Amino acid sequence: MTHPQKVSLTGIKPTGSAVSVQDGGSVHLGNYLGAIRPALALAADYRCIYFIADYHALTTQRDANALRENVRDVAASWLACGLDPDKMLLFRQSAVIEVFELMWVFACIVATGQLERGHAYKDALAGGDSPNAGIFNYPLLMAADIILYDSEIVPVGLDQKQHLELARDIAVRMNHLYGEGTVVVPQPVVTEAPTVPGFDGRKMSKSYGNTIPLFLPSKALRSAIMKVKSDSTPMEDPKEPEGALVYDLYKLVATPAQQAELAVKLRAGNYGWGHAKQELYEVLEAQLAPLRERYQALRADPKQLDGVLEAGADKARVVARRTLDRVRAAIGID
Ligand code: TRP
Repeated sequence: MTHPQKVSLTGIKPTGSAVSVQDGGSVHLGNYLGAIRPALALAADYRCIYFIADYHALTTQRDANALRENVRDVAASWLACGLDPDKMLLFRQSAVIEVFELMWVFACIVATGQLERGHAYKDALAGGDSPNAGIFNYPLLMAADIILYDSEIVPVGLDQKQHLELARDIAVRMNHLYGEGTVVVPQPVVTEAPTVPGFDGRKMSKSYGNTIPLFLPSKALRSAIMKVKSDSTPMEDPKEPEGALVYDLYKLVATPAQQAELAVKLRAGNYGWGHAKQELYEVLEAQLAPLRERYQALRADPKQLDGVLEAGADKARVVARRTLDRVRAAIGID
């Protein structure tokens, strides 16, 4: 393989209240299966950059300790899930303050009307809030995040698509005003993450209170899985796996052979939903136990964790400075 790999960038917003390690951390199974696992799989084909968007979180987070803890928790979670800091970049957004210089340059070429049409801002207004200027400028900071690191591909969910389109517009406009090649024009890739149901069957989400924290200790994980909704078909009766919540979750984690096997057992009867939940728990436990161990070790050693993030920021800053040098020369600030 000689062709250079493209750069793929992922921003992770650390949100919520501080959650303790014993309670399984702030990341849930839905985050893992729907976002983290697919994002880490990209490392096979791209040069991946992951950063923790702490300054984006500040638009809504007022609790300093929660913010501090969430950043560490999210970093430890991604590392535990397989983010290899020797092959991929991981850092705190706030550690590379160059991003704010680029953001200002962008602010000077974007019409306020474009920001007024932003979904998040419009939703906040419609909801009767008076949004802060951080929410208004959120897409500008995001464009700077992306363009600062010469990102070519940005995989995002549908909710972030508009932000990506603005980043792309800004890059095109920069090159139009100041010369082709001033910045790299990013390409949004809308990813279709699998929707992971929570134990009540609705999409797993903190706002529904139906999450299964990813790093629950094994006993607590088992109890959480036993709470997954199922019907009251008697044990002896045959059961249809397709459409059953336990089986939907099983399909997200088990191999095709395991899935087929469980389907046969359920259809045969004399096999209860409780047994199926036990199988689901066992497959999950086998996969998550090593991750949980790494997560707990990382959370127990914040100095080492901060060191990993600092080392990532040092490498990211080199790319950032190179982009800014190019931009500064182009705009006449040098
Ligand atoms: N706004 C994104 C979210 O809420 C996080 C984010 C910040 C991001 N900067 C980014 C995502 C740059 C992709 C690229 O999920």
